[in-house]
Amino acid sequence: MYSFKEKYGEYLTSFEARLNKFYDEFTCRPQILDDSLKYSLKSGGKRVRPVLMLASAELTGAGDCRVEDFALALELIHTYSLIHDDLPEMDNDDYRRGRPSNHKMFGAGNAVLAGDGLLNTAYYILFERCADGKASAEAAKFLCGCAGVNGMIAGQSADLYCAEKGVRSGDMLDFIVANKTGKLISAATAVPAILAGGKYFLELKQFGEDLGRLFQLVDDILDEEGSPESLGKTTGKDRSENKLTYVTFYGIDQCRVYADIMSDRCLKILEGIEGDTSFLRDVVAFVRHRES
Ligand code: IPE
Ligand code: IPE
Ligand code: MG
Ligand code: MG
Ligand code: MG
Repeated sequence: MYSFKEKYGEYLTSFEARLNKFYDEFTCRPQILDDSLKYSLKSGGKRVRPVLMLASAELTGAGDCRVEDFALALELIHTYSLIHDDLPEMDNDDYRRGRPSNHKMFGAGNAVLAGDGLLNTAYYILFERCADGKASAEAAKFLCGCAGVNGMIAGQSADLYCAEKGVRSGDMLDFIVANKTGKLISAATAVPAILAGGKYFLELKQFGEDLGRLFQLVDDILDEEGSPESLGKTTGKDRSENKLTYVTFYGIDQCRVYADIMSDRCLKILEGIEGDTSFLRDVVAFVRHRES
C-alpha cells in the first residue's frame, strides 16, 4: 500500500545515491574549498526540490533523461543560495540545517567561494546533459533561467532592497517570493515536463510556482513561531532584519488563510493532470503542515 513517507524515502534514497556518487567523483584543491562545498551539502535539509523533481519525472515519464543529474544541479544551486543568504551582508544567520552556517565554519570569503563553486559545478553538470539532445538542453536552459537574474537572484536582490529601504508593498512582496523561492521550486516540477517533450509543462510550472508561494508562506510563519531545534535555523530574524515577508506584511492569521487558499490552488492544478498525482497532492499537505 502507498505511504507518503515511504515514497518520499524512496525518492530521497535514489537522490542520496546520486549525491554520494558526486562526493566520490568530485574533489577539488585546496582542501578548504572541498570541505566548505561539501559541508553545507552534507548538512542535509529536506531535499524537497530533488524529491519533487523525481516525482514529477515519474509522472511525466521523463525518468530516462538522467533526471537525477538535473536534481543534483538544482540541489547544488539551492544550497549555494542558502550559503549566500546566510552571509552577514545578507540575512546574517549563524545556523543552517542544524549546524553553524558555512561562513561561521569557514569565514565569509570561503563561504562566498563555496557558493560560487556549487553554482559553477551545477552548470558543469547541466552542460554535460545538454549533449543528450534538444529536450535536455532546453531543460538545462530553463533551470539556469530560474536560478538567474530574472529568477532566484532577482528575488534575493529585491528582498535585500526592501529590507534596507523599508519598502512595504504587496507587489514587491509577490515579486520577492515568486522569484527567490517560486522559481527554483517551479524548476523542480517543470524541468521533467520539458524533458518529457513538454508534457503537462504549463500545469507543472504553475503548480511549482504556487507551491513555492505556499512554501514561503509557511517559512515566514515558522520564522515567527517555529522551533529553532526542529527548523535547524534561527527564528525571529525576519522581524529583526526588517524583512518584507508575508507575516510582516499581512500578519500571521491572514497568512494561515492564504496558505490554505494556496494549498487548494495547488490541488486544483493537479486535477488537470492525468495519472497518479497522489504523491504531489501529499507534498502540498507536507509543505502546508511542515515544522522543519
Ligand atoms: C529554505 O529552503 C529557503 C527557502 C526557500 C525558504 P528549505 O526549507 O527547502 O531548506 P532545506 O533545503 O530543507 O535546508
Ligand atoms: C531565502 O528565503 C530564499 C533563498 C533563495 C535562499 P529566506 O531568507 O526566508 O530563507 P531562510 O529562512 O533563511 O531559510
Ligand atoms: Mg533571505
Ligand atoms: Mg534567510
Ligand atoms: Mg525565512
